[in-house]
Amino acid sequence: MLGKKLQLGLTALTLAVVVSAGTHALWSQPATPTHPATISDQVATEDRVRKPGWWPTKGSFPSNAYVGAGTCAQCHADLVAAQSTTSMAKTATRAAASELLKQHPLSYKLGPYSYQATRGEAAATYSVADGANSYSTNLQWSFGIRMGQSYLFERNGGIFMAPLTYYPEHGAWDFTVDQAHSIPDSLEKAVGRHLLDSEVRGCFNCHNTAATTSDRFDPDHSTPGLTCEACHGPGADHVSAVKSGLAEQGNTMIMNPRHLNPVESIDFCGSCHRTWWDVTLSGSTGITSLRFPPYRLENSRCWGKGDARLTCVACHDPHRPLEREAAAYDSRCLACHINAAGAKSTVDHPGGACPVARKDCVSCHMQKFQVVDIPVKFTDHQIRVIRTSDAIPR
Ligand code: HEC
Ligand code: HEC
Ligand code: HEC
Ligand code: HEC
Ligand code: HEC
Ligand code: HEC
Ligand code: HEC
Repeated sequence: MLGKKLQLGLTALTLAVVVSAGTHALWSQPATPTHPATISDQVATEDRVRKPGWWPTKGSFPSNAYVGAGTCAQCHADLVAAQSTTSMAKTATRAAASELLKQHPLSYKLGPYSYQATRGEAAATYSVADGANSYSTNLQWSFGIRMGQSYLFERNGGIFMAPLTYYPEHGAWDFTVDQAHSIPDSLEKAVGRHLLDSEVRGCFNCHNTAATTSDRFDPDHSTPGLTCEACHGPGADHVSAVKSGLAEQGNTMIMNPRHLNPVESIDFCGSCHRTWWDVTLSGSTGITSLRFPPYRLENSRCWGKGDARLTCVACHDPHRPLEREAAAYDSRCLACHINAAGAKSTVDHPGGACPVARKDCVSCHMQKFQVVDIPVKFTDHQIRVIRTSDAIPR
């Protein structure tokens, strides 16, 4: 239901795109990189998904090529159990299944408008009243889990986003990101923002698994949250090859991002977290770029021309929850930095020693900052000496 109107909107776009990929040859492993990774290897996601083969957010593979994490669990049970506890796995749900909304119902007064939202057993209800009139509906979807949760609903055949978001670490409801922080001048506007079809497709393609298949946007048949196939690509061929005893062929039928060079590896995560080029082309700089780690990290002096010791997966295991202990990251820094006063840099360890401390490196060199319009702090991935906590370069 939710998808119908959007599918119509997508038809023109689908025709314009050259569909290149079928179900097979999901990913051909590059034998050896032809040259060392450089900045010119960084690619915008829009260009990357036009290339043959799998890439996250790509929607050209048919729905029957996806088997679901339950099937992956037949052979990769530990990974499936671990990954299901991550924020990425829980980053979208049907609103009627939102635990956050159940525990923290919305009751908020904004000028003359009062907002209510609650989650019962079968549905999540939402209402806005201005004293004279009121509007009420069911919320359909919730997006985001650790830093904030926003809600979408259907109205007049379109998709709207509620103007208020729940922020778990702040323990409060506040304005949704990219929302005017002012009192709306009509009930009509107070209810929420009408999203463009392209925005709706974006939410689902980055927060759900297989929302677009055979280039048709079909959110009702997607899997809420990110499961194995959101990153590794559809797994049906891999599974049937392995089950026929062809494990080696099976490996070529699923993408293993371990084989990417450092620049591609960061672009891979950047397909949702935004690549250096995605951010540059969008014009975000300084504090507005803070929520896009690939851009910040690749602007660090540490990154140089690209180094496997500083990819996203060098610090984050995408199958496990985010590590929140500063000390846990020390070994990553010390893969490159020497850690003894007076010692000289070497080829193996090109980074100098810190004149100030020997541990908890990220607590000073990767600090957290509040992004202007939402009550959430993001970690600045531009590793550097931070002189004053309010100066955000580039
Ligand atoms: C029937 C058992 C089975 C199922 C089901 C299965 N796998 Fe595998 N998978 C394997 C085996 C066996 C290997 C090879 C391991 C090796 O080479 O050490 C493998 C390897 C992989 C690799 C690494 C490939 C490489 O290049 O090294 C990835 C990634 C992967 N599987 C993901 C998945 C995903 C995602 C699913 C669900 C869509 C899945 N697997 C379902 C058995 C299975
Ligand atoms: C298909 C889109 C997508 C891809 C690809 C992706 N991410 Fe994410 N990632 C997300 C979304 C959406 C969230 C927000 C989760 C939430 O709601 O809190 C997220 C959150 C995270 C978090 C924060 C977790 C937390 O608890 O706050 C880390 C760390 C992360 N991703 C790392 C990675 C790494 C590393 C890669 C590449 C291996 C990657 N991501 C690839 C979409 C993606
Ligand atoms: C290009 C991929 C992409 C698109 C498009 C996208 N998101 Fe996200 N979203 C992410 C990633 C990655 C994160 C985690 C990092 C962060 O918080 O910025 C995230 C985080 C969030 C959060 C957590 C709080 C916050 O603001 O950080 C919410 C809520 C959210 N997204 C909702 C949405 C909604 C609603 C839409 C559509 C209007 C949307 N997202 C579109 C990738 C995307
Ligand atoms: C956010 C993206 C993401 C998700 C979701 C994800 N993976 Fe991975 N996976 C990766 C990346 C990146 C690597 C390569 C890690 C590295 O280079 O160390 C990887 C590696 C692997 C490998 C190969 C390990 C090796 O030693 O080469 C297997 C098997 C695998 N994943 C299975 C799964 C399964 C099963 C799921 C679902 C439970 C899953 N992955 C979910 C990104 C993801
Ligand atoms: C040198 C280690 C390191 C590298 C490399 C790294 N991160 Fe992080 N990342 C961190 C630390 C430290 C945190 C903060 C953890 C905490 O909350 O205490 C973090 C937090 C995050 C978060 C949660 C939101 C936030 O801003 O706090 C996301 C999302 C994320 N990283 C994504 C990425 C992506 C994508 C890449 C690759 C471009 C990447 N990280 C590379 C160390 C790293
Ligand atoms: C891939 C290797 C590598 C990794 C990993 C790495 N660095 Fe660096 N870093 C360097 C190099 C090379 C330089 C430039 C030479 C120097 O200043 O020592 C540098 C520079 C720095 C600087 C000075 C930057 C400036 O602009 O003033 C700081 C601070 C720093 N690193 C801290 C860290 C911390 C903290 C970590 C872990 C979170 C880390 N580095 C991880 C290689 C690395
Ligand atoms: C208590 C905060 C703090 C911690 C923790 C910390 N640093 Fe520093 N670091 C600083 C400050 C401040 C400077 C700048 C010193 C100056 O220029 O006088 C600095 C400078 C540096 C530099 C630049 C040195 C140069 O010659 O330009 C590097 C590299 C560095 N730190 C790496 C690290 C690493 C690696 C760790 C963890 C082992 C670490 N730091 C832990 C505060 C810290």
